[in-house]
Amino acid sequence: APPFPTCRVSSMLLRHPSASLIDLRARGLGGRAAHRVIVPRVSTPARAGAGATGADGLHPDIRTTLFSEEQLRDAVSRLGREIGNDYSGKSMLLVGVLKGCYMFHADLARAITPEPAVFEIDFLKASSYLPGALETSGKVNIAEGFDMSNVAGKHVLVVEDIIDSGLTLTAITELLRTEGRAASVKVVTLLDKRARRKVVFDADYVGFDCPDEFVVGYGIDYSERFRFLPYIGTPTQVAIDRIAAEYKAMREVDETFAFQSDDPTD
Ligand code: IMP
Ligand code: MG
Repeated sequence: APPFPTCRVSSMLLRHPSASLIDLRARGLGGRAAHRVIVPRVSTPARAGAGATGADGLHPDIRTTLFSEEQLRDAVSRLGREIGNDYSGKSMLLVGVLKGCYMFHADLARAITPEPAVFEIDFLKASSYLPGALETSGKVNIAEGFDMSNVAGKHVLVVEDIIDSGLTLTAITELLRTEGRAASVKVVTLLDKRARRKVVFDADYVGFDCPDEFVVGYGIDYSERFRFLPYIGTPTQVAIDRIAAEYKAMREVDETFAFQSDDPTD
């Protein structure tokens, strides 16, 4: 199975695999900070938003569509009505788990009806303690920047793109309950891969049951690619292999720069 991208440093992905040190020096740039500004050559031919489709309506790197735009829209409005009814009259905080949730969160917020008595949104980013791990370790840490003091007494609904092992959400919901002292904590996930659970975890609201396949689109990525697709599908093996090779090349560039850096704090 292709590696999950949950534990990667995203700034690393902005580096051009073929950018050489000589190129950078020629531009008067040096050290680690410099190569962050280089625009990557993106092999995915789609930078045209929803126009990311071939003649058959599918992106060339996508093998099959699992959930179409229309199916996603229907699921989001069904969830919006269900959630709206359940949170009617309550003080609600809709907390997205970045980055995969971003499209779903934005669409869901617009679909929740009727409007809760108080309706706030926030986002958090969860990170694993294990560097370089390909799946979540379960030792999840909420990244700095999330305002845990804003959680107390509120009815928190955590918005997730896809539940796999269940480890990430087990940890996040536990933190929101104990540290955050939320009035309640529930979870809505767009996709649920029940077959892959490592711990017992049930979401309160589910868009779709998802087959045990690696999926991308509608916010969900493979190595930061494909988030922009308006539907959810499975990437081709050719695309997975190509992107994995590009990622590996970028890491090699990264190591070169780490060695060259003269900033000890970098
Ligand atoms: P878990 O439930 O702790 O294993 O973590 C779920 C996270 O793994 C999701 O939020 C995604 O970031 C990632 N993930 C799981 N399955 C997929 C997939 O099919 N495609 C892309 N990311 C996935
Ligand atoms: Mg996620």
